Amino acid sequence: MAIRTIRIEDDEILRKKSRDVKEIDEKIITLLDDMAETMYDAEGVGLAAPQVGILKKVVVIDIGDGLIELINPVVIETRGEKLFEEACLSFPGQMGKVLRPEYAKVEALNRDGEKIVIEGEGVLAVALCHETDHLDGVLYVDKVIDGA
Ligand code: NI
Repeated sequence: MAIRTIRIEDDEILRKKSRDVKEIDEKIITLLDDMAETMYDAEGVGLAAPQVGILKKVVVIDIGDGLIELINPVVIETRGEKLFEEACLSFPGQMGKVLRPEYAKVEALNRDGEKIVIEGEGVLAVALCHETDHLDGVLYVDKVIDGA
């Protein structure tokens, strides 16, 4: 495991779209391990692969309830709407209010290639949406309603 460098602010890679993972090989497993270590080291609750310079659809999340690993995640359902205070490891020291669904459901693969469904409310719903946005090159700062 290794801590990877987090790309920040106007780094162009953050704006690019990530590609589907076709095969979960050793490289992807190492990426998942490194991303988790990098997220914990930075005391974040989520990290997407483009943030460490890899344009692949890989996400890790831990809002305090344990590690969630998502490969090729797709948001398949959302409900409700709420303003949440958000931050991002790629924008250190910043926060902003974003309108997000109160509930989100995501379909993805786990590291064993099995289909999984993760659903959550509140902070988990926000993290699921925020991190999948990263894979489309979309950043929360684009969606901020009221900068803090
Ligand atoms: Ni982020």
